[in-house]
Amino acid sequence: MPNKIQRRTFLKRTFGTILTVLGLGSGGYFYANRIEPSLLEINKLDIKHSSIPTSFNGVKIVQFSDTHIGFHYNLHQLKKLVKKINHFQPDLIFFTGDLMDEPNKYEEINKIAPILQQLHATMGKYCIFGNHDHGGYGSEIYRNIMELSNFTVLLNESRLIRKNDGSYISLLGIDDRMLGKPDLAQAMKQVPKSSFKLLLSHAPDVADDASTYQIHWQLSGHSHGGQVKIPFIGALVVPPFAQNYPEGYYSIGDNNNLELYVNRGIGTTRLPFRFMAKPELTVFTLYSLKSD
Ligand SMILES: [Fe+2]
Repeated sequence: MPNKIQRRTFLKRTFGTILTVLGLGSGGYFYANRIEPSLLEINKLDIKHSSIPTSFNGVKIVQFSDTHIGFHYNLHQLKKLVKKINHFQPDLIFFTGDLMDEPNKYEEINKIAPILQQLHATMGKYCIFGNHDHGGYGSEIYRNIMELSNFTVLLNESRLIRKNDGSYISLLGIDDRMLGKPDLAQAMKQVPKSSFKLLLSHAPDVADDASTYQIHWQLSGHSHGGQVKIPFIGALVVPPFAQNYPEGYYSIGDNNNLELYVNRGIGTTRLPFRFMAKPELTVFTLYSLKSD
């Protein structure tokens, strides 16, 4: 423990020094500690593909990620977030991991599900494990909360997302790359070959593997967009498995066959700061590129 505290103090002092050098001083500290973490950027993207059935045109997905409840993020903020997500009237809601910062130490676990139950999505709510959801023997705590909240937990498995006319797309979710046992081959087992395939993976760098599995799109979190970025230098810390793809949109694979989006998340971890890495909600709209 002392090491952890010393490290945290060291990082705080380092960050303070950097802000001072940049001429931002205590105002910068206040901004990074209080202002920027409370902001919310809404990013909108279209997901277009010839394998998406025309009946899915206009289907709206809201992705949120990395709330890290219990570390500089509380249930009052979560309630406000739920209202903001519902405001978009999503058809689908995806949560891409790291619900609580330390699941086994958080004292108000019974209060989370009643809040997440208020999230409404006409075609379903789905989630995957992040590294913090496994940390400190938290795996079952996380699963219980998400299932109570009417989320389907995808652990190396897939589901068909169906429209009334019988058309469908495939949604896959894999376990966390850092502390779980991700198995893409297992997740692919039930997936119809010709369907549009959307993968949820907490760790973005899994995309390098996913691009070899005929996955069309991958949605990730984990990086927090670096959480603290220094102008002209970049992120102070990017976690393992978010090194190749730390933030935003990427087109990857031999034939650019996989499109990846990395959401910056909502909360913070390790240090209660965000700087040049605002919290984010992402709203995706599906469109078919079928010629018929
Ligand atoms: Fe996270």
